[in-house]
Amino acid sequence: MQRTLFICKPDCVQRRLVGEVIRRFESKGLRLVALKLMTVSRALAEKHYAEHAGKPFFEGLIQFITATPVVVGVLEGNEAISVLRGLMGPTNGAAAPPGTIRGDFGLSRQNNLIHGSDSAESAAREIALWFTPTELLDYQLADEHYVS
Ligand code: TYD
Ligand code: MG
Repeated sequence: MQRTLFICKPDCVQRRLVGEVIRRFESKGLRLVALKLMTVSRALAEKHYAEHAGKPFFEGLIQFITATPVVVGVLEGNEAISVLRGLMGPTNGAAAPPGTIRGDFGLSRQNNLIHGSDSAESAAREIALWFTPTELLDYQLADEHYVS
């Protein structure tokens, strides 16, 4: 079992697509272990996107992600990191294939609705950045349809 972090970015919340996006996670069989609505501070945004500091799109990205609230959560499941990346699609909505979240709902590279951790190392770092240990809930689902 893996855990991964997702963010429904401000454009996703503004466009009332949070339910649609989380429905796709649940339909796939991923399990929510944490979830919250929050406004992102500049400090948190800069830490989250530290790998992109200095790139030409960095300042615009920080402005975008801090402008209005996001929904951030942690998902768990078999191969959850790559499964989430697959559900998201590639970065640029205009190039993302239909059937993916970015491919179905946007044309933008910056305003691309969703973030997902890109590796086990990123997932561990990002989960610790956005959530305290007590916010990660340990529980069982009643069914076992999605056992790996
Ligand atoms: P990146 O980590 O490369 O993409 P992904 O979200 O698919 O992992 O980039 C982080 C975010 O930065 C990306 O979701 C949107 C934004 N971005 C731009 O605005 N312009 C760009 O040219 C790139 C590469 C990213
Ligand atoms: Mg990335």
